[in-house]
Amino acid sequence: MTHACKILPPTEANIDLCADLLRDEAVVGVPTETVYGLAGNALNEVSVRKIFEVKGRPLIDPLIVHFHSLEDAEAHVEFNDRARKLAAQFWPGALTLILPKKDSISDLVTAGLPSAAVRVPAHPVFRSLLKRLEFPLAAPSANPFGYVSPTLAQHVDATLGNRILAVLDGGACDHGVESTIVDLRDPAAPKILRPGPLSAEALGIQNCIQNSDTNKTTVPSTNAQAAPGMLTQHYSPKTPITLFAHGTKAQQVKETEAVIYTVKPCDSKLASETSNTFWLSENGELAEIAHNLFGLIQKLDQAKYTRLHIERALNQAIGVAVNDRLSRAAAKRP
Ligand code: TXA
Ligand code: MG
Repeated sequence: MTHACKILPPTEANIDLCADLLRDEAVVGVPTETVYGLAGNALNEVSVRKIFEVKGRPLIDPLIVHFHSLEDAEAHVEFNDRARKLAAQFWPGALTLILPKKDSISDLVTAGLPSAAVRVPAHPVFRSLLKRLEFPLAAPSANPFGYVSPTLAQHVDATLGNRILAVLDGGACDHGVESTIVDLRDPAAPKILRPGPLSAEALGIQNCIQNSDTNKTTVPSTNAQAAPGMLTQHYSPKTPITLFAHGTKAQQVKETEAVIYTVKPCDSKLASETSNTFWLSENGELAEIAHNLFGLIQKLDQAKYTRLHIERALNQAIGVAVNDRLSRAAAKRP
């Protein structure tokens, strides 16, 4: 296939161009504050089908619908008071809410579920695109199904560039991991379906049920109701991954293998440019670790190491999301 994709700087003219492509039922790569998305008209079945095709994603795995504002979202899903309050507080931002859908959202988007995942993103380029459009945008992460999520326009171009025409370049994604997903269909019992940049504490829903124990297998099923999207094996580079405990050293590392620590090692021999040792942050800051996670994994996946040994993050705040993605990336393929 030919590589037709253009990486477009976020000028007004290029944002207009992407808006026109989307009106013509095309899908394009878009920057968000979490990871890059593969966007299409959420209200048009041709566009939505293209998203699944380009990503190689099974139709049983539903999509997040992105809006410019809470008011726009209210036209397509049923908000309860608790959802409205959370949205008012955290949107635009890295929070996705699961709420009962209205008829305007097709079953294709929700994989037949009566509820939809909705979010108002914060990235200024994505917002500027949404503002121009007459429709919301369905957008999964812009990676081939099962692979590491993209945090640079170049990642999208490298993996999907022969299947799409354009990716808007909004720079490196701030958070680097996908939004926190909260099921708020029952306002009295919110449930975190996917940990993300906003922790349960930050959201003020500490007593919620957390679905982040990745050791409990959630199998890909033919029934979207059972387990939408929370596949145990996901985010996986081609290179196998072994995880080790936070604050410990990697064991039995062969010469052909690489080690990723969460913080730069004090040992200057390890921290030299030529060693096979890498790190996700200078001083252990969790936001920096998350920001660098997927990019470093993709870089080392190209470097042909035979294995990546990766240190788990401190399991708090966005570190919970980092560990969730790491567990899935390290899980054996079925
Ligand atoms: O940060 C993000 O959320 C990024 C950016 C592009 O917005 N998007 C993203 O989309 O991560 P995706 O498709 O890679 O992950 C969405 C997750 C999937 O696990 C999917 O199964 C789940 O959301 N999901 C979507 N609709 C759902 C629904 N109605 N009920 C339960 N889970 C749903
Ligand atoms: Mg994804």
